[in-house]
Amino acid sequence: MGLEGVVYPEDPRTLECKDIIDTEELPGLFDSVRTGAWELPHRIVMAPLTRARTGSDRTPKELNALYYAQRATAALIISEATVISEQAAGYAFTPGIYNEVQIVGWNLVTDAVKSKDGRMVCQLWHCGRISHPSLQPNRATPVAPSAVKPGESAGLAFTEDGWQPFGTPRALDTSEMPGIVDDYVKAAENAKRAGFDGVEVHGANGYLINQFLCDGTNHRADQYGGSIENRARFFLEAIDAVSEVWPTNRLGVRISPWSVFLDCTDSDDASLYQYVCQELGKRDLAYVSVVEREWLEDEAPERDETVPPSITAFVRDHYSGRILTAGGYTCKTACATVQSGVADLVAFGKAYIANPDLVERIRAHASLNDPDRDTFYAGGEEGYIDYPFMDQRTA
Ligand code: PHB
Repeated sequence: MGLEGVVYPEDPRTLECKDIIDTEELPGLFDSVRTGAWELPHRIVMAPLTRARTGSDRTPKELNALYYAQRATAALIISEATVISEQAAGYAFTPGIYNEVQIVGWNLVTDAVKSKDGRMVCQLWHCGRISHPSLQPNRATPVAPSAVKPGESAGLAFTEDGWQPFGTPRALDTSEMPGIVDDYVKAAENAKRAGFDGVEVHGANGYLINQFLCDGTNHRADQYGGSIENRARFFLEAIDAVSEVWPTNRLGVRISPWSVFLDCTDSDDASLYQYVCQELGKRDLAYVSVVEREWLEDEAPERDETVPPSITAFVRDHYSGRILTAGGYTCKTACATVQSGVADLVAFGKAYIANPDLVERIRAHASLNDPDRDTFYAGGEEGYIDYPFMDQRTA
């Protein structure tokens, strides 16, 4: 596909929630679409959003069930990133899906979403080096493809005792790799028992899989490092192992070509992601989710001219299945993206934090609530389940 029809999302650094409603016409946005196993009623998806409200036990409770159920009119809900093992953890108070109690907790959530006719997938996460010993079993050193410490731009680790500097991770031994792939499998099995409709393998945004993909963070000399094929091996092994548990039409993946988030960078994103897209294309997945722009407004660096103006269009050039895109979309750019076929679904993040009934508001051209940054992470009900619906009900 050439560049005609490609729409460039707004710069999320300047986009405010109210700017999202920027058109009266909504062509394509409310067309149903078959995506993998699901017949989705429209194109508006709830993006995965870290809210850090599941406590030290990393277990969802009724509060979390209410939050997700409030947002059940999304075509699809992608869960907040959910760790597949204790070792996978990288942030305080984010959920896990590696023990029985967490499965029971997630069942509260999926039952609540189902009771509102929603669909929800679990995003499977391993943070790799983006962690801290205080978040690891036995205060272990966090693991990574190579012993490369996150640079300044990665910021600090979010621990139960506040923000802490990142350290140098321990490079995983080749013999440990099957065990991590197995953690993805167990988490995928747990997600099934927890009542999810599918799973998403998180390969984006500077976390473990992305650390393996990128040559800035992967300096290995074994079969998981060196060539692009080798660096992509772990990602593809995880996907293929999970697809023994879930049919591929209930399996999505997330990628973030050209991302520099968390100081995870590659010297040749075009070649790397051309290969990744080609391999994903062989697997008949439910969808590929593309991170369109850095969403960390203030910290997002300027892009140089080597970065494609639309990351999603780059992926579309190399991948013909369903694409979900996220990052800086307004109604106008979302419609144009869907209509041009560059993406099939558009996810909203900040707008979904502040507007549980985002779909109904967009359909009605209603005004949007603005999100409160101070309550994005951690805390309780405030800024979580108390954003008003159009008609002021909160449930
Ligand atoms: C975060 O918690 O900041 C976070 C989690 C998952 C992502 C990106 C950011 O993919």
